[in-house]
Amino acid sequence: MKKIIMEKAKEASKNSYSPYSKFKVGAALKTKSGEIFTASNVENSSYGLSMCAERIAVFKAVSEGFREFEEIAIYCDSEIFFSPCGACRQVLAEFSPHIKIYYGNDSKTIETNLDELLPQMFNL
Ligand code: THU
Repeated sequence: MKKIIMEKAKEASKNSYSPYSKFKVGAALKTKSGEIFTASNVENSSYGLSMCAERIAVFKAVSEGFREFEEIAIYCDSEIFFSPCGACRQVLAEFSPHIKIYYGNDSKTIETNLDELLPQMFNL
């Protein structure tokens, strides 16, 4: 499944609205029941209003009634290799602390989880 949702994340990155950072990020989130929600990052000239691809994918899914997630893939074809930001890690932890996380670009994909990316997470 990793390859398929990574491909969907790449496809979603094409819709990225990122005129300021030029980071074209795409995310594909798979629910426990098999639906896939995709998203890209969406920026704003008032920079702080920009939103990451991962959070848009989670918010799309949750607002359509899905709260349990199995995997998320995040793609960005940038020269700087990045991992999901802290805010997105915390939002993923809210719904699925055991979610599998894949992130990368065309040459490298890292497979990880929130135990590694958000140790000692805050969760009520
Ligand atoms: N970005 C994401 O979409 N996901 C991340 O995990 C890190 C950062 C976006 C936000 C902004 O539009 C651009 O990448 C640069 O920070």
